[in-house]
Amino acid sequence: MGEKVYALIKNRNKPRLELFSHRIIDWQQQHGRHGLPWQGADVYRVWLSEIMLQQTQVTTVLDYYPRFLARFPDVAALAEASEDDVLALWSGLGYYSRARNLHRCAKQVVLSYNGAFPPTVPELQALPGIGRSTAGAIAAFCFAQRAPILDANVRRVLTRFLAFEADLAVSAGEKALWEEAVALLPHRHLAQSMPRYTQGLMDLGAMVCLPRKPLCSQCPVQLQCAAYRNGNPERYPVRTRKLVRKAESWWLLLLRDDQGRMCLERRGAKGIWSGLHCVPVFGESAQLALHPALGHAAQKKELPAFLHVLTHRDLYLHPVVVDVCAGDLESGEENWFTREQWQSLGLPAPVRKLLDAA
Ligand code: ADE
Repeated sequence: MGEKVYALIKNRNKPRLELFSHRIIDWQQQHGRHGLPWQGADVYRVWLSEIMLQQTQVTTVLDYYPRFLARFPDVAALAEASEDDVLALWSGLGYYSRARNLHRCAKQVVLSYNGAFPPTVPELQALPGIGRSTAGAIAAFCFAQRAPILDANVRRVLTRFLAFEADLAVSAGEKALWEEAVALLPHRHLAQSMPRYTQGLMDLGAMVCLPRKPLCSQCPVQLQCAAYRNGNPERYPVRTRKLVRKAESWWLLLLRDDQGRMCLERRGAKGIWSGLHCVPVFGESAQLALHPALGHAAQKKELPAFLHVLTHRDLYLHPVVVDVCAGDLESGEENWFTREQWQSLGLPAPVRKLLDAA
């Protein structure tokens, strides 16, 4: 297409594009979420909230966020902490690589930037655990940068508004959507417009432009939305590669010694619950039956199995409580923890619940 023709089409679209950001901003002020503790806060607090919110609902984050801040009030305090302390406060939020990257990021901000987060997307994106969308959110909220975001909620809003047909499982499709996201950004009064617009997109995706049965009658851009006009908003976003869920059964061995201590091992650096402390886990019941503890067991009690849902996996957990004499086992002294000791460790949420009840 000739450049002049392309410019003409682009200019013809301009009022529609500008209208979009105006409407999102006005809607956010009237109907969006206000009074969240990270709104208008300093960069450390905004960064922390964005990392916590990456895979976790706002209501859950509202519970963890103040406790985390009380223990680590600034980036220097977090950088100085041990990884175990950070994991302990993250325990229950899941996706523990987020906590480890958070800790690494804090150290890097102290070391490379003297404790002040950098203001641009490329610099933010170079830090551990910060992808382009999180970098965009921090840059927009804290530095009024004209930077787009594209988390799952915002992807839905934009692909529907544009009736965006490209496949987001293909990198060219993803790249094209980022370009569209840039084109839709506000142009003026960035100090006010960028934080409001960014929050507005997040709020619209979370409250109105729902994955199923979107509430189009409440949407500020209903009449301009291409998918609404075509009558098929649920068709978007287009993604060919679907998440494949797997189911697994895990046996959890809750070994308790004669002093009431529990046996915990630190899990490896990769995979589910990596880096956390956990009771011994067995993937197959046959292997479990061979565990030396069971030969010495004074008493063995199977608890009801339950389902623990992860993003890619359904874990069927089968807890078995076994009373043993610590001396009978190969497990080293360092693996036995009193209640007081394990309470301050980073543990997977279902394991913590089982230990609490044991
Ligand atoms: N999800 C990701 N970032 C968010 C924010 N700042 N407010 C509400 N939900 C969010």
